[in-house]
Order: sequence, then structure tokens, then C-alpha cells
Amino acid sequence: MHFTLQQLKLFEAVSRNASYTRAADELHLTQPAVSIQVKRLEEQVGLPLFEHVGKKIFPTVAGKTMYQASCDILARVAELKNSVETLKGEVKGPLQLSVVTTSKYFMPHLLGLFLTQYPDVEPKLIFTNRSKVMQRLYNNEDDFVVMGQIPEDDNLETHPFLENILVLAAHPDHALAKKKKIKLEDIINERFLVREVGSGTRLVFDRLLVEKGLKLEPYMELGSSEAIKQGVMAGLGLAMLSLHSLQLELAANKLVILDVEGFPVKRRWFAVHLKGRQLSLVARTFLDFILAESYRILNYDKK
Ligand code: PGA
Repeated sequence: MHFTLQQLKLFEAVSRNASYTRAADELHLTQPAVSIQVKRLEEQVGLPLFEHVGKKIFPTVAGKTMYQASCDILARVAELKNSVETLKGEVKGPLQLSVVTTSKYFMPHLLGLFLTQYPDVEPKLIFTNRSKVMQRLYNNEDDFVVMGQIPEDDNLETHPFLENILVLAAHPDHALAKKKKIKLEDIINERFLVREVGSGTRLVFDRLLVEKGLKLEPYMELGSSEAIKQGVMAGLGLAMLSLHSLQLELAANKLVILDVEGFPVKRRWFAVHLKGRQLSLVARTFLDFILAESYRILNYDKK
């Protein structure tokens, strides 16, 4: 079988996305360029790798076997690349991270500064919710992941760094805005906007309610903190959000933090990877960088 790594890479992307178009978008190629290469790979294998049913594609048995092998080969090649860079002692090459959506308010800033010091690092940051980050963590798909709520698991290596302060936010004209020492049980029937199940923020909120023996009927469930924040600013309801996400809006008096007993809830952010994972020099250097520098870079030590 004569095939190239590039063909495996394209095939892997098509399989994972179950679509030629999405794979082509992801790899910044045209759709015909991707399908030609996958076709060549099929010719080499001598078996069809996908079945076309209507507009959808499904892997054949050979396709599934090929997918597993492609993942293994591509992961080994990435490791090899990293080992070579490590041997050379150069902080360059790929840095693959998955981070929870809420960290979009600080991770780009940390990465931005890191890249000014190490411009040859090729970062790839996937922002997704906690449950998908967990999936990627256990599939060992990233150098490390960043999340707030870590599972109890001895097979994980966890490195706490910044604080994650969770507050209850409201529109400045809300009836509760100026009230002091509000009890959560007294406002449980207010309209609450919550994140989707699978989000770490939602997990913390649900656990808090269980601890207090409270039951809340969410008024709206929205798939992003940004959407929830807009909802709060539009006066749709109250929401628990990370303080990281509210800096600009608080400064502009677009929303306020309610004085609710038990709040703020203080959590940490963690960089996490499977125990025993050999971090590349790039990943090790970035991890050390965020552990040592994040408070200073984000000016949190002055607040
Ligand atoms: P989320 O995760 O962005 O999925 O809500 C936040 C967290 O892990 O605390």
C-alpha cells in the first residue's frame, strides 16, 4: 500500500466530521481536493472506505479499521515531531489544547503573550464545553486541557492556576439589584438563565442547588455564557456567570452583581492531562508559563 501522511490526515478529518465539506473547511482545502486524495487512498487500500447513503457518508468496516490506524499513525507522527523538537531544545511546533468555553476570556491573552516569546509555536485551541473537553482528555487528544470542574480520578495530573469566581448577575434595574444579603431560597422563583447540561458552569450551579436542597425551574437554557450575559443585560433574568466574562459589562454598568448569601462561589481553573503523558517541550513550557504568570498577565494580583 502506497499512501501519504497527507492522505491519512484528510481521511481522518473526513471520518471524524462525517463530511468531505466540513473536513475541507477545517483543513482550508477545497472539497474536490479532499475527495481526490481520499479516492486515491481507497484505491491503495483496494476497498471502499465510505458508503454514501443519500447525502450522508458512513465508514465501511474497512473505513473504521483505517480510521483507527490513521489516528494511531498521526498521533505517533505528532509525538515524533515533538520528541525531535525536544531533543533540539527548541520551543517550536504544535501546541494542541482543548479548553472550556468560559476560559475564552483569559486563555487567548495568556497564549498571546506566550507567542510573543515563542513565535514558532503553532497553537490550536479548541473551545468547547466541559463534557466535550472531558471526552478529548480521556482520548488523550490534546497536550493538555483547561477546565474548572475536574473529575476525581487518580489517572489525571491536575495543575491549578487562576481563580474562577462565580457570581449571580442581574440587570442594573432589577428589583434585587440594590438588596443586601439576599437568600438564594428567596429568589429561587425568579427567572434564571442557565447554561446547557454538559457545561461546567451549569454543573457548579446544579450542585449548589442540590447542596441547599433547592429546586429551580430554569426560565431559559442557553448554549453559551455570552448568550446568557446578553440575556441578563436584556433583562430576561438572572444568571450565575464567571466573573472573567463580566469585566467589560460591569465597568460599563450594563449589569450588576447581586449580594446573595453563599456567593461568590470561588473555584479554580486547572490544566489537566492524563498521568504519564509525556508533555512536549512546547506544552511543558506553556504549562509552566501559565502556572507562573497568569495572575500577573491578567492583572489579577492588583485586583
Ligand atoms: P463551561 O465550563 O465553559 O463548560 O461552563 C466551565 C468550567 O469548567 O468551570
